[in-house]
Amino acid sequence: MQANKKDWLRDLVIYQVYPRSFMDSNGDGIGDLNGVRQKLPYLQELGVNALWLSPFFCSPGDDNGYDISDYQNIQPEFGTMEDCEALIRECHQRGMRILFDLVVNHTSDEHPWFLESSSRDNGKSDYYIWRDPVDGHEPTNWASVFGGSAWEYVPARGQYYFHLFSRKQPDLNWRCPDVKKAIFSMMAWWAQKGVDGFRVDAVSHYSKPEVFVDSTLPPMPDGYRPAFDQICNKPETHAIVHAMNREIFTPYNLVTVGEVACETDQDLQNYALSQREEFDMAIPFVPPQMEVGLNPVELLRHRFESQYEALKDGGWWALFLSNHDKPRQVSSLGDEGTYWEPSAKALALFLHGLPGTPFVYEGEELGMTNAYFSSIDDYRDLDSHNVYRSLLLSGKTPEEALHGVWQVSRDHARTPMQWTSGNQAGFTTGTPWIRVNENASRINAEQEQKDPLSVLHFYKKLIALRRREPLLKEGTLEFIDTPYPKQLIAYRRQKGGRSLLFIANLSDKACPVPFPLPDKEPLLTSWEREQSSRPAGQLRPYEAILWEE
Ligand code: GLC
Ligand code: CA
Repeated sequence: MQANKKDWLRDLVIYQVYPRSFMDSNGDGIGDLNGVRQKLPYLQELGVNALWLSPFFCSPGDDNGYDISDYQNIQPEFGTMEDCEALIRECHQRGMRILFDLVVNHTSDEHPWFLESSSRDNGKSDYYIWRDPVDGHEPTNWASVFGGSAWEYVPARGQYYFHLFSRKQPDLNWRCPDVKKAIFSMMAWWAQKGVDGFRVDAVSHYSKPEVFVDSTLPPMPDGYRPAFDQICNKPETHAIVHAMNREIFTPYNLVTVGEVACETDQDLQNYALSQREEFDMAIPFVPPQMEVGLNPVELLRHRFESQYEALKDGGWWALFLSNHDKPRQVSSLGDEGTYWEPSAKALALFLHGLPGTPFVYEGEELGMTNAYFSSIDDYRDLDSHNVYRSLLLSGKTPEEALHGVWQVSRDHARTPMQWTSGNQAGFTTGTPWIRVNENASRINAEQEQKDPLSVLHFYKKLIALRRREPLLKEGTLEFIDTPYPKQLIAYRRQKGGRSLLFIANLSDKACPVPFPLPDKEPLLTSWEREQSSRPAGQLRPYEAILWEE
C-alpha cells in the first residue's frame, strides 16, 4: 500500500468501529478485534475502504479505552497483538486502510509513567501537569469536562495533577521533551506495523498555561467553573501538531484526522488547511448539549456551508453526522418513528452528496436509533452518569434527570451492533456489557441484507455512486436558499458544465418545492419504496432526491 497519499486520500469512505460494541467473538459480552476480523466481508460488501477503530489498547476502561495505560499492547478483553497484526494484514488484503485512535492529550492514571511521576524524585516527574496547593486546596477553580474539579491531589507528591477529562485521565505535559520523544516513537512504531493513519483525540488542549488562573465564567452546579477557552487551540498546540506532521505523518505517509474544538472558521483552517502541514482533515467537536432542540435543517446548512467555505481553498473535509460521542443521527436529526426509513436515507444522501470524505459510524448504515434505558443503572458511560448527577444537583427530580440523559447520552451510540433479530442481536452469545436496543428484532443487518430497499442497501448504493461519479469528489458546492429554511435543504455540485442537484425536506410535513425540479429519473431518492407516486410540486416528509441536472 505504498501509493502516494494524494492518490487515495480523497477516495476514502471511512467506517468507524467502536470495538467494544461491534462484534464479540468469544462470548464474554465484549466486542473484540477478532469480531472485527469476522465482519470484514460485511464491511467490504458495504463498500467502505478504510476503518477507524476506537481505542483497544491496555486500559482500565474508565472512559472505555480513552484512558490508555500501555500504548503498545492490547487490552486482553479485545484480543492479542497477534490478533491486531492479523487485522491490519487482512484489511490490507481486502484493499482497506486502517486508522487507529491516538489518545495523547492524556494517559490513564494507571500508566507506568504516571505511577512513576507521582513521586517527585524520578525521571518522569515532569511528564504530567503538577502544581502546588494554594491555601491548602486546588490551584484553581477549573472544572473537568466530566464534572468536578480538574485537579486531583496526590499525597505522595504533595501536589495536584491536572485532568481535563476524568480523574483517571491525567493530562500529559507536552513541554517535557521526553514526553514528545516517547509519544513520537510510539506513533512511528505503529506506522511500521502497517497502520495507515490516526484519528487524533482531543487535540485542542495539548498546551497548558505556565500559570493557571481562576476562571471567571459562571460556576457549574458543583461549583467549579469551565475554563476551556484558556487552554484551547494555543499556538504551542499547533506547533506540536506541526511537529507530528513533519516527523511522523508525512514521512510515514499517514492519513490523519484531528478531533479539534473549533470556535471559529479560523480554528478549523489552522488545523486542516494543507499549507499548515498539520492534519488532512478535522473533526470539530461539538458537545451534544449544544445541539439539543436545534432545527436540523438550519444546523446542517450552517455547519456544512461554513466548513466548506473555510476549507475550499486548500483543505479537505471530514463528513460525519455520527460518532461514539453523539446520539444516533436518525434520532437527533431525523425521525425514529413513522418516517424512520426515509429520514435515515435522507440524512445519508445529504452527507454523501457533499465534498469531502464520508464517515459511517457503526450501525448508522442500518438506521440504528437511540436506546432509552429506563434506569440510570443501565448506562455505562461515565459522562452519562456525570450528566445525571449534575442534573440532580441542579434540583431536577430523578425522572427529569433521566430524561436529560436521554437527550445527550453517549451510550446511544454504544449499544451493541444489531447483526440479527436473534438473541442479543447476534452481537454475543453471552451477556453484553451494555444492553441491546429493544428494536433489534426490527432493525438489523440480517434483515436489511435481504431487502434491496433497506437503509443498508441505500448506503451501498451511495458508496458505489461515489466511486463512479467524479462530481461528488471534485465538484464545487453551493447551497440554494428556499422560502422554507426550516424544512428544505438544497445544494448543487458542479464541475466542467455538469451539475448535480440535491434537495431534501427534513421535516415530517409535506413541503412545496419553490423551483422546477429536473424532469428525469433521480440518481437516488429516500422515498425509493414509493418513488413513482411522488406528488407534483412538493416533497413528502423526509423526501430527499439527487439528480443529474
Ligand atoms: C474525545 C473522545 C471521547 C473521550 C474524550 C477524552 O472527545 O472522542 O470519547 O471521552 O476525547 O479522551
Ligand atoms: Ca469478546
